[in-house]
Amino acid sequence: MAKLKVAVLISGRGSNLQALIDDCRAPGAPAEIVLVLCNEPGAAGLARAATAGIPTRVIDHRGFADRAAFDAALDRALAAAGAELVCLAGFMRLLGAGFVNRWRDRLINVHPSLLPAFRGLDTHSRAVAAGVRFAGCTVHFVRPEMDSGPIIVQAAVPVRPEDTAEILAARVLEAEHRAYPLALRLIAAGRVRVVDDRVVVAGAVGPTGPSLNPQG
Ligand code: GRF
Repeated sequence: MAKLKVAVLISGRGSNLQALIDDCRAPGAPAEIVLVLCNEPGAAGLARAATAGIPTRVIDHRGFADRAAFDAALDRALAAAGAELVCLAGFMRLLGAGFVNRWRDRLINVHPSLLPAFRGLDTHSRAVAAGVRFAGCTVHFVRPEMDSGPIIVQAAVPVRPEDTAEILAARVLEAEHRAYPLALRLIAAGRVRVVDDRVVVAGAVGPTGPSLNPQG
């Protein structure tokens, strides 16, 4: 079966990009990354793509008069690469509603919280401050409203009493590196449908029973 052609949009370090690259390289993987697009010249993630032999494009948002012109340039690059699915992986620009709607149900993002809790930035310090017992990440289809859209995969991690935002961020990032490739695989394997703006995963197997924190 033909592999799903995926473009990954990044702005920085690219550790989620790396997780996707590694997973797509595994024998029998149902997706291939055809393009890495980045809005920040010199972002570390670009080197990861180059090392993996994946074509890269830098489209610096500062070179455009407005968001619509920037989004149109992204669109052209995605079309030229034949991308069928777009993965946002630490892409730090808001995309306009036009772009988001054109890519409806073909545009996914990883966010470092258990949405709909903690939309926006600084999720880990806000989770620590709120005293929540579990944190985590969400892979979701993108809708025009920031950090919203049908949820594909979530991964939960415990928050420990001694956690700082940095410690928690590292624990959540590990979870992101598992959740994002899983979500991509589910989509590429044709197991994901959006029904009434919620995701249905064919043949999904989930955990059973509650996780308690603290446990006693
Ligand atoms: C991740 O925590 C992701 O959830 C957030 O930005 C961070 C990107 O990290 N949107 P990386 O560039 O993938 O290492």
